Amino acid sequence: MVKAVVAGASGGIGQPLSLLLKLSPYVDELALYDVVASPGVAADLSHISTKAKVTGYLPADDGLKAALTGADVVVIPAGIPRKPGMTRDDLFNINAGIVRDLITGIALYSPSAFILIISNPVNSTVPIAAEVLKKHGVFDPKKLFGVTTLDVVRAETFTASVAGKPDPSVFKIPVVGGHSGDTIVPLLSLSEPKVEIADPDRASLVNRIQFGGDEVVQAKEGKGSATLSMAHAGFRFVESILKAVAGETGIVENTFVYLSGVSGGDDVKSITGLDFFSVPVELGPSGAVKVTNILPQVSEYEKGLLEVAYTGLAANIKKGVDFIVGAP
Ligand code: NAI
Repeated sequence: MVKAVVAGASGGIGQPLSLLLKLSPYVDELALYDVVASPGVAADLSHISTKAKVTGYLPADDGLKAALTGADVVVIPAGIPRKPGMTRDDLFNINAGIVRDLITGIALYSPSAFILIISNPVNSTVPIAAEVLKKHGVFDPKKLFGVTTLDVVRAETFTASVAGKPDPSVFKIPVVGGHSGDTIVPLLSLSEPKVEIADPDRASLVNRIQFGGDEVVQAKEGKGSATLSMAHAGFRFVESILKAVAGETGIVENTFVYLSGVSGGDDVKSITGLDFFSVPVELGPSGAVKVTNILPQVSEYEKGLLEVAYTGLAANIKKGVDFIVGAP
């Protein structure tokens, strides 16, 4: 029996993500938590004739505890999204506290759950989560993930468009680093199937993958950021976890993890000098089974992109850690 929880379930991402989870054959119980409207979203979804039992919780009456107790996987899209002109880092002041409090709940009520963080800035909210879990003595790096799948989804879509291929889903393109602007590093040289894209097209494709989120923020004219594509991407990642838990093998997703806690992660850490990094991770019943160190295979051009990403990420990670342990 698999219990999935969405924290931030009434929002732009939370609602379609909850819908997709309600439709998934891998989910038996779906608990929706939010500070507003979650009982309504749950009532609505509960009429769909699939097996998952849906419940909705608000903070009152120990709602967070009730939602999280018994959870196998908790997905967190809670917090404010960007408006035009904002970077993801601009969200830190509000979202950092929201993530800290939700993770504290997980540490208390569902410490062995898989935790998938969507709330931005992911480069900082995942380190925040790790520090909170460490404080409570329940940090399992194999079970904490920053969801960077939307960058992979965008890389597949935009690359197919430049390469003139009709079906983006045939592409497998590693996207490493973090989840904001130039910390997002698409490794087009390692694309399967191979693509030959020369500059200036390559540079504009890389830029579009790095800053694709801005296209949505601008098109929505102040009404938020990517929600539907993010719900799809978040669901893709949750389902990969649940498939791995169900015993399927060979499942690999790019995700932002604590490197030293996952087999093979220290090889990446020795190159990047960073504790957290998004890399292709093989998933298994216990979570992140193995990190694939693809960094030695990248092109010279991509090495330049990576150097830029390392600097930005180091600052973002430190900001998250300092938020919990206190700045030195
Ligand atoms: P939204 O504003 O539509 O929804 C956020 C939801 O979180 C709201 O329903 C709100 O009531 C709820 N919430 C606020 N505080 C909460 C708390 N303490 N506990 C539980 N729920 C709480 O925002 P949207 O568009 O759904 O985005 C959510 C987050 O996802 C943002 O931080 C956004 O930047 C991020 N995001 C991440 C992406 C990624 O690739 N990782 C892509 C797109 C957005």
